[in-house]
Amino acid sequence: MFQLPLEIFLMRRGLYPPPPGESDIIGLEVAGTVDSLGPGVKTNWKPDERVMALLSGGGYAEYVAVPEELLMPVPSNLTLCQAAAVPEAWLTAFQLLDFIAQVKEGEVVLVHAGGSGVGTAAVQLVRLFGAVPVVTAGSPEKLKMAEKLGAAAGFNYKEGSFAKGVHDFTGGKGANVILDCIGGCNWEQNVSCLAVDGRWVLYGTMGGRSVDGDLLGKLLSKRGHLLSSLLRSRSLQYKANLVKAFSRRVLPHFSDQSASLKPVIDSTFSLEDIAEAHRHMEANRNMGKIVVNVIPQKQETQ
Ligand SMILES: NC(=O)c1ccc[n+]([C@@H]2O[C@H](COP(=O)([O-])OP(=O)(O)OC[C@H]3O[C@@H](n4cnc5c(N)ncnc54)[C@H](OP(=O)(O)O)[C@@H]3O)[C@@H](O)[C@H]2O)c1
Repeated sequence: MFQLPLEIFLMRRGLYPPPPGESDIIGLEVAGTVDSLGPGVKTNWKPDERVMALLSGGGYAEYVAVPEELLMPVPSNLTLCQAAAVPEAWLTAFQLLDFIAQVKEGEVVLVHAGGSGVGTAAVQLVRLFGAVPVVTAGSPEKLKMAEKLGAAAGFNYKEGSFAKGVHDFTGGKGANVILDCIGGCNWEQNVSCLAVDGRWVLYGTMGGRSVDGDLLGKLLSKRGHLLSSLLRSRSLQYKANLVKAFSRRVLPHFSDQSASLKPVIDSTFSLEDIAEAHRHMEANRNMGKIVVNVIPQKQETQ
């Protein structure tokens, strides 16, 4: 079972090649069961154990080889379908908020694409860290869902200025952190609603890659930090550290008493309907993750 993130389209078109040595089969995250262990495995994974994993490629397959450091146990109350929606989206959101932006309690975090896979994870993690998430999205349904997940406010970027929304919400102070997967078309509003000393974390460019205007002057006047990150090209050691930190700080909250964290599944497709799944995502219709089931006969029991 694997999940369908947006980079898949770039991979499908050959525009996001795998890092050297990685599988050229696309697919960046999976959940399933351990089939067998390679020689020299040091940890205690056992055949048939339910696991989920971050991949650099190879997820569109029935079997995938995974370095043991990148495996995580599936929380007991999650189905494999739900678990397939966790690794890449949640590790990305966790990495951006914790390793890169170092979000602190009480800070206001603006999450763009609040209805996306990464966005729905980020909103919940911001709350978990005691900070205040606000979001942008392109439809009232997506804003409503983000608010249900914990967003304190939401702004429809198609209907007005989100920068004004953030200014109003923060009493003019601005957002301490911006998680930005949009880039180009939003730069002016981003820098305008960034708080003094704020951290603007770029991790995608869905709204364009080039900027024309006084970005540097405006950023400097805010003493702003422009940070960027890609997860896929990171070293195995970095990813192993990320998986370890995530497993310790976040994973227990998927199955604690209040089950405070929930992977958000938009829809599931069987592998035969993969083209339809891609069209669904390309139309920006999904709220949360699209999961693809590679072994349909197992779907009922997981
Ligand atoms: N740097 C990394 O390591 C890393 C890792 C994972 C993902 N990513 C990036 O994170 C982003 C989100 O990935 P995902 O898989 O979570 O996406 P997703 O679930 O497919 O959601 C993407 C959403 O982004 C919004 N969007 C698309 N184009 C937009 C535009 N031009 N302006 C504003 N909003 C736009 C759409 O929602 P609306 O209806 O609200 O517009 C769309 O549904 C992608 O850019 C992906 O490449 C980066």
